[in-house]
Amino acid sequence: MSEIDPTQFRNVLGNLPTGVTVLTAHGADGPTGMAANSVTSVSLDPPLILVCPAKSSTTWPTIDSTGAFCVNIMAEHHEEATRAFAMKDADRFSGVAWHHRPTGPALDEAVAWIECRIRDEHDAGDHTIVVADVVAIDAADGAAPLVFFRGSYGAFRDAQA
Ligand SMILES: Cc1cc2nc3c(=O)[nH]c(=O)nc-3n(C[C@H](O)[C@H](O)[C@H](O)COP(=O)(O)O)c2cc1C
Repeated sequence: MSEIDPTQFRNVLGNLPTGVTVLTAHGADGPTGMAANSVTSVSLDPPLILVCPAKSSTTWPTIDSTGAFCVNIMAEHHEEATRAFAMKDADRFSGVAWHHRPTGPALDEAVAWIECRIRDEHDAGDHTIVVADVVAIDAADGAAPLVFFRGSYGAFRDAQA
């Protein structure tokens, strides 16, 4: 039995600032996507990333079934769009323009796009660690990212500026 309180776990781990991504795929019923901040760079050779979907996610099984997904790194002005991609019963793609990429929809105004094919899945408590091969990458010039910290959204500030 764990002695770590789940709320305290969330609060303490929330002190690690992250970027915010939306994972997208071409589902059998059309575009599908979910917000995720657990994306991490893993390996350069071969190029691998990981992401940790919750076992309770109803969107991940659809993405998983396609064998591929596109990681969209969200921009500073994407707070509302990101909220939609974390909400049940929201029309998640209605507030964002997107175009087709082989692995999933690419959100037009994202900061960067990482196209992935699923390689391995590892059991990890109430989440799954999904390791994926990176098959294509692209980034927008000079775009500012959305930052997630202590449960709130914010902007990156360059300490040198
Ligand atoms: C900033 C942020 C980061 C999130 N990161 C993750 C994540 O890494 N893994 C995950 O499974 N859900 C994550 N979520 C929650 C999912 O986006 C959300 O629960 C889910 O999309 C909604 O339910 P569904 O998967 O059943 O559609 C995150 C939500 C937000 C707002």
